[in-house]
Amino acid sequence: MAKIQMKNIVKKYGDGFPAVNDVSIDVADGEFVILVGPSGCGKSTLLRMIVGLEDITSGDMMIGEKRVNDLAPKERNLAMVFQNYALYPHLTVYENIAFPLRLAKAPASEIDEKVRKASKTLELDEHLDRKPGNLSGGQRQRVAMGRAIVRDADAFLFDEPLSNLDAKLRGQMRTEIARLQKRLGITTVYVTHDQTEAMTLGDRVAVLKRGVLQQLATPRELYTQPNNLFVAGFIGSPPMNFLPATVEGTTLSMPFGDVTIPQKSADRAAGKGLLIAGIRPEHFEDASVAEVGEGSTFRATVDVVEWLGNEAYAYIPFEAQPEVQEQLTQLERDLDGESMRTQLVVSIDGASRITAGEEADIWVNAEHIHLFDPSTGENLTKEGKVQANEQATDTGEPAAG
Ligand SMILES: Nc1ncnc2c1ncn2[C@@H]1O[C@H](COP(=O)(O)OP(=O)(O)O)[C@@H](O)[C@H]1O
Ligand SMILES: [Mg+2]
Repeated sequence: MAKIQMKNIVKKYGDGFPAVNDVSIDVADGEFVILVGPSGCGKSTLLRMIVGLEDITSGDMMIGEKRVNDLAPKERNLAMVFQNYALYPHLTVYENIAFPLRLAKAPASEIDEKVRKASKTLELDEHLDRKPGNLSGGQRQRVAMGRAIVRDADAFLFDEPLSNLDAKLRGQMRTEIARLQKRLGITTVYVTHDQTEAMTLGDRVAVLKRGVLQQLATPRELYTQPNNLFVAGFIGSPPMNFLPATVEGTTLSMPFGDVTIPQKSADRAAGKGLLIAGIRPEHFEDASVAEVGEGSTFRATVDVVEWLGNEAYAYIPFEAQPEVQEQLTQLERDLDGESMRTQLVVSIDGASRITAGEEADIWVNAEHIHLFDPSTGENLTKEGKVQANEQATDTGEPAAG
């Protein structure tokens, strides 16, 4: 096993547009890192540069201590794990796992030893004589991983392995992959466009937008401390609400009313003019049913209510100024989304009796409001970020990329 280091990796195809633009990511030995972002953001290109299927325009690709830019794929000792359709239907499970070793002309005794060891780890012992067609989806996934394991690869690489499966099977396979990766402790880089997959699988997640790394962090940090509007909008479902806002003292004014925000947030937003406030749906509540803590309550007309049993989503339309609307439209385009951003989505308790068309008292937790600069998309309220006017007293590192 080995660590993988991508240093200032650039990939330009024929037209000169950088499909991957100065990306640096360190994957620790045994770590599970996800590359995520909308279609076309450069995930596959980056993965293919790790494996050696694509030339690197500039930068250094390191596996272990070795620079591998000029090594052929087979000299890199990495395993691309393909989805079940890459299994040979006419071969038994045993022979499917043994395949790369037979190809390498390994002695029969070594093949047998490695296949049996892998099948034990993967709990495939009873299935060794069966054909892939007689296995469940999860078992087939394990066979595909078995084939990678017997090669003693330094790392596993996956490119959207679950994208062709139905939702239920996708959920099962996700759990399977997570379990095996932990058990094997093998360095893994996994590409997906699905933020749920990214959040549930990864030790850390790298979010890419048009070839540029936006943030590399744990799922929890991405969710609670997004670097910018793009990450904030991409991670989370239903997505974070974005509203036009201005700050005066510690009063944040938004279309549905005023909210008192923490002093620290107010300081960072001071003198910035029109901002975009970001609030996750779960940071609202129906004020009439829930024990609400500190925060503010506002009165709003609810347009639609979707009741799910354990919770409900209430939709509250609002108006946004043209400059904010423009930024949000751009964001939608970047996110490949079709969401209507001029309505608030509020997650409320399942016991709530709010009905469509009625006015309701909605509480908002001001502690969790993010404030974004509308021109750059930067999250002004991100924890750990050192602001120019705080530098004298704060010795912390600048926000990690
Ligand atoms: N062989 C190629 N020649 C030219 N452009 C390419 C090639 N492969 C990918 N691209 C472009 O590079 C960008 C990134 O592609 P890709 O890495 O496949 O994205 P993702 O996997 O994130 O969907 C896209 O704009 C795509 O059109
Ligand atoms: Mg791709």
